[in-house]
Amino acid sequence: MNQTDYIVIGSGVAGLRAALELARGGEVAVLTKDRIDESNTEYAQGGVAVALSDDDEMALHVEDTLNAGAGLCDESAVRVLVEEGPRYITELIDWGAEFDRKDGELSFTREAAHSRNRILHARGDSTGSEIVRSLLAHTRREPKITFLAHAATLELIVEGGRCTGVQYIDPNESLVREMRARAVILATGGAGQIYAQTTNPEVATGDGISMAYTAGAIVSDLEFVQFHPTVLSAPGAPRFLLSEALRGEGARLRNHAGETFMKNYDPREELAPRDIVSRSIAAEMNRTNSYWVYLDLTHLEADFLRQRFPKIHMTCLRYGLDLTKDQIPVSPAAHYIMGGVRTDTEGRTNLPGLYAAGEVACTGVHGANRLASNSLLEGLVFGARAGAAALEESSSFTLANLSEHEPIDISQSDWMFDPQTRYRVQELMWRKVGLIRHQDELKAALIELTDLAAQAYNSRTRNFATLARLITLAALWREESRGAHYRADFNDRNDTDWLVHSAQQIDQPIHGIPKN
Ligand code: FAD
Ligand code: SIN
Repeated sequence: MNQTDYIVIGSGVAGLRAALELARGGEVAVLTKDRIDESNTEYAQGGVAVALSDDDEMALHVEDTLNAGAGLCDESAVRVLVEEGPRYITELIDWGAEFDRKDGELSFTREAAHSRNRILHARGDSTGSEIVRSLLAHTRREPKITFLAHAATLELIVEGGRCTGVQYIDPNESLVREMRARAVILATGGAGQIYAQTTNPEVATGDGISMAYTAGAIVSDLEFVQFHPTVLSAPGAPRFLLSEALRGEGARLRNHAGETFMKNYDPREELAPRDIVSRSIAAEMNRTNSYWVYLDLTHLEADFLRQRFPKIHMTCLRYGLDLTKDQIPVSPAAHYIMGGVRTDTEGRTNLPGLYAAGEVACTGVHGANRLASNSLLEGLVFGARAGAAALEESSSFTLANLSEHEPIDISQSDWMFDPQTRYRVQELMWRKVGLIRHQDELKAALIELTDLAAQAYNSRTRNFATLARLITLAALWREESRGAHYRADFNDRNDTDWLVHSAQQIDQPIHGIPKN
């Protein structure tokens, strides 16, 4: 039988950190869909939030996270994140991660809704890539970890009520194979590609959420999708992120008339929470009948900008825009999903043998809206905790007596995405389940997405349409506005009726679970 001790699906920050923990007690196979270093993590710019600076306090980081989460954070999960964060960042530095320093001391910057400068960054705006580099270097020194690149997982295998492995594409032999393990850690990241406009790379199709749902896991809070306000919006350019750290350093938003406008929407102006800045930009675009607004940094010192944001500066130059001289056209795009596979703070799902960590998981740490730069920290802390729990709880599970199916020739399995369904789902989600939602549009989207999921002719396409349907159903179910979820037909937050998490499980109606 094709088997190992532990399977990790995904090689972003959560998957790599989980693999390192699991390697303390067994052989680990890391299956990943593309190149090993291709993930949301790789593109993270602004930084990683951690209460490590002299003028910061853990209580303040907890408070800021709870405030951003708009009443729906699980406070115990937030405490774990904030209180264990410094230990995991220090460990990462010991493993070779080089965060930017000033006069030898770690340099902390500010992002929206943080009350202190607490964001560490690397090579200015390449924080994620430095984290991947240092974690990969460390995993490569660990002989018990094996990587399988370009090995997309298609389904989870469940036997006797336990997750015992995965069905995946073996890229070397062009076969769909099975692999068994004592435990499986889902670390498949986000789902931005469900939307036509997104900051996320191609791999972020939310596979883990729909695979887990299909296998019987509970998925929670899928209505909460964060839209990043400032994404490059120049004709012909990709939807490249223009980090919130730019606003943290003083960038202003201007409309087509050259006027700053955030003061008309929120007293915190450019540093209001992301959902407020995104909706304000959308309102301003609507009011001025335009496709974008401008991010203006031209009042900041040119040398500072080139040094502090080298990647953003170079990328904009490629599209004829110079940060130091030009105002940059921006508009919101889907960025992060707060919901996911429901877990406790050890990464346990309701399905024995299945753990989840990172963006695919919903620990409740982000509530209805994620505080900027909390997710790299989440990947480190909860990746390690999920790995430790899987190790402790599964080491005695025996893989004997499991049946194995013959590998399927890939040409017969028809595993490629159906491009038409993908495009239709992305457009529907963007137009009807986006930044501003309404019952009529949500209902129309749900009908079409239900058809698209039912008609999908392979598991990859079905997973994609299924996740879009689950997000839409949750958005329709929550009849209030909270955090990143904004309903034009229910535009107030309603703590009397809606202080609950949405929960969806196969063959059961959507329902609420009271918040911890
Ligand atoms: P990912 O890093 O996305 O990794 C998921 C992995 O799973 C990938 O390797 C992928 O190939 C693999 N995978 C997916 N599906 C399958 C499958 N079916 N089979 C096998 N493998 C699969 N957060 C911050 O805290 N600070 C920031 O500054 C920041 N900036 C960001 C900038 C951008 C442009 C983006 C897109 C996100 C940013 N975020 C930031 C969010 C943050 O990067 C992510 O939330 C975080 O990195 C997720 O880590 P992860 O390990 O859970 O998933
Ligand atoms: C950014 O740099 O603006 C992204 C930070 C994040 O998503 O946490």
